[in-house]
Amino acid sequence: MLERIDQLQTESLAELAAVTDAAALEAFRVKFIGPKGSVKGLMALLKDVPKEIKPQFGARANELRQKLEALYEERKAALGSAVTQSTPGIDVTEPGLPPKLGRRHIITQTIDDLVEVFGRMGFDIATGPEVEDAFHNFQALNIPESHPARDVLDNFYLDADDVPGGPHLLRSQTSTIQIRVMEKSQPPIRVVAMGRVYRPDEHDATHFSMFHQVEGLYVDKRVGMADLKTTLYQFARAYFGPDTEIRFRPSFFPFTEPSAEVDIKMTVRGVTKWVEVGGCGMVDPNVFAAVGYDPEVWSGFAFGLGIERLAMRKFAVPDLRWMFENDLRFLRRF
Ligand code: DAH
Repeated sequence: MLERIDQLQTESLAELAAVTDAAALEAFRVKFIGPKGSVKGLMALLKDVPKEIKPQFGARANELRQKLEALYEERKAALGSAVTQSTPGIDVTEPGLPPKLGRRHIITQTIDDLVEVFGRMGFDIATGPEVEDAFHNFQALNIPESHPARDVLDNFYLDADDVPGGPHLLRSQTSTIQIRVMEKSQPPIRVVAMGRVYRPDEHDATHFSMFHQVEGLYVDKRVGMADLKTTLYQFARAYFGPDTEIRFRPSFFPFTEPSAEVDIKMTVRGVTKWVEVGGCGMVDPNVFAAVGYDPEVWSGFAFGLGIERLAMRKFAVPDLRWMFENDLRFLRRF
């Protein structure tokens, strides 16, 4: 009877020695030490073992079980680490994952393009503050105190009328920069300025309470309407392509005389129509007077175009609000 145990020990140790992978080790466990394995089977024999060797038999069988279980665990650990070691490491010659790069916002791209195109036409870049005073936003632009454009409901005022130098407001137009430039320099002047403007408008597909404008100002001797039209035609063709159609409609702005509205022909979702992109005109003599230029000597033109409108046409974006919602699915398209 005790030989059965010796036999099983020899047999099981030989099989364990032959184990080289996890599957073989598992087969070993099932065959010998699992709930239905041979070592368990020894216990079933116990009832037939002669009484005098029963304690010895039981002890030997237990010993074998413990020994095999210990050897099994040891081998399992060894195989486990062998598996990790044989897993291929990092292949340093593989091309890496491309890092996720950010990109310029569609408005920034448009501004950069405008700087480029107007730069080629000889315009320098000017800037001005977004928090403005009423003098630069209205007064100097020939928008008198009583003018409806100054209405509290149409502007983001920051303080009251009686504040010294006030009231201040978030600028409602980049035309303020015309004044800032002329205050500190003398003609000839040829500048464009791009920046944010603010108006408490209802948000819809073509309106937002913050948007961007590009402002142009050209001051010299004998500047005429033909120079203005040529400049804007050339800009439209350089920016949108040689077939671009634009038109001028007579209009009114306090700071220009005569004034015109500028339309560009746009095709959005198969529908072609004229879309207003801004205003322009010959600088009003009152504006020159406000900055101390002699209107008898100097003449000039100015224009202000909506940057979002230009971008919508350039990139066929049907809804201006998408530009400010920061949805990556939209931003990644540009
Ligand atoms: N400032 C005007 C606006 O916000 C646009 C504009 C019209 C600008 C005529 C100009 C101009 O420089 O000459 O609607």
